[in-house]
Amino acid sequence: MAFIEASSPHTMNTYGRLPIALSHGQGVRVWDVNGREYLDALAGIAVNTLGHNHPKLVPALQDQVAKIIHSCNYYHVPNQERLAAKLAELSGMTNAFFCCTGLEANEGALKLARKYGHDKGIARPEIVVYENAFHGRSIATLSATGNTKVQQGFGPLVEGFIRVPLNDIAALKQATEGNPNVVAVFFETIQGEGGINPMRIDYLQQVRQLCDQKDWLLMIDEVQCGMGRTGKWFAHQWAGIRPDVMPLAKGLGSGVPVGAVVAGPKAANIFQPGNHGTTFGGNPLAMRAGVETIRIMEEDGLLENAANIGGHLKGALASELGALTGVKEIRGQGLMIGVELDRPCNVLTTRACEAGLLISVTADNVIRLLPPLIMNRAEADEVVEKLVPLVKKFLAE
Ligand SMILES: Cc1ncc(COP(=O)(O)O)c(C=O)c1O
Repeated sequence: MAFIEASSPHTMNTYGRLPIALSHGQGVRVWDVNGREYLDALAGIAVNTLGHNHPKLVPALQDQVAKIIHSCNYYHVPNQERLAAKLAELSGMTNAFFCCTGLEANEGALKLARKYGHDKGIARPEIVVYENAFHGRSIATLSATGNTKVQQGFGPLVEGFIRVPLNDIAALKQATEGNPNVVAVFFETIQGEGGINPMRIDYLQQVRQLCDQKDWLLMIDEVQCGMGRTGKWFAHQWAGIRPDVMPLAKGLGSGVPVGAVVAGPKAANIFQPGNHGTTFGGNPLAMRAGVETIRIMEEDGLLENAANIGGHLKGALASELGALTGVKEIRGQGLMIGVELDRPCNVLTTRACEAGLLISVTADNVIRLLPPLIMNRAEADEVVEKLVPLVKKFLAE
């Protein structure tokens, strides 16, 4: 592998980084500073929707940079309205607040839920969250996260969360029974960091129904699984439901930091001037990136591509690996795929990188693929060709 400096003495020691630095990319390929090529099956963790150096995105961003990068929210930003209207059209919701990251979008959602409760006279609102969830690393979002490793060392945690298991409507009903303080149910349609764990379609529909009955907000974190990754704009749309609040980020700006809290009629007017804000959120560069990303996705049929190529990739992985002892399950939807092994396999990230393939391992034993949505069939086959021998060798050790 092309090693660069083994340590970075002046950046905080927050990441177990691989010893490469990427210098540039083209399509689904990237090159490191030493000129070594990699096939990108991770897209910067579900961020580079359009891959790298996209011929339509780059000139649009260059045009925007030359005009204005940042103004501020004291003034109108025309592309905020354009992007909000587009997100409303695609989601069937109505309004959006823009921020920069996934945790910020989730923080906004949590604030919406609490204020929704306060507006109804609930002084200590409680929000249902899930085992193995990941919602970010601010104090509130790490409290909502269902992973003690993420929480350790940062107590006291934020209170007001009720935790339940996935896909168990009886458990949700039992955990909330007779509790007048519940205001919202909050989950990822497909848990990303938790190991590519999908909520079942019937469960999503049951939770929607329960939220309607109880007057709770249904808040769906689509930060990782949204923006076309599963073959629909938002993964919950496979269940034909609509949330009241939907945090987005990652793929929304195709690499430029853009986050959004999208809200339907039940939540769209909760925030009033002074309740929430951000300096960078919704700035002209970010909004141009969001508008252009969606435009290009529509022009180039990337939802269909994600569904087709994702189906092909998952099928190929299933036929190559599915029957092996040690492979527990191959799951996911579209270009969000997890291969669960029966043992920790973090070392495969390094080995794949050495073999010229960028992937990740999450939840210790799930190989995760989140390629750019522009990936074609030949490139998907190349992912399989590179990955399968590594997994077979690993399982035989
Ligand atoms: C579902 C989900 N929500 C929230 C986040 C946090 O996003 P960010 O890292 O942009 O704060 C992530 C990040 O992985 C995520 O996968």
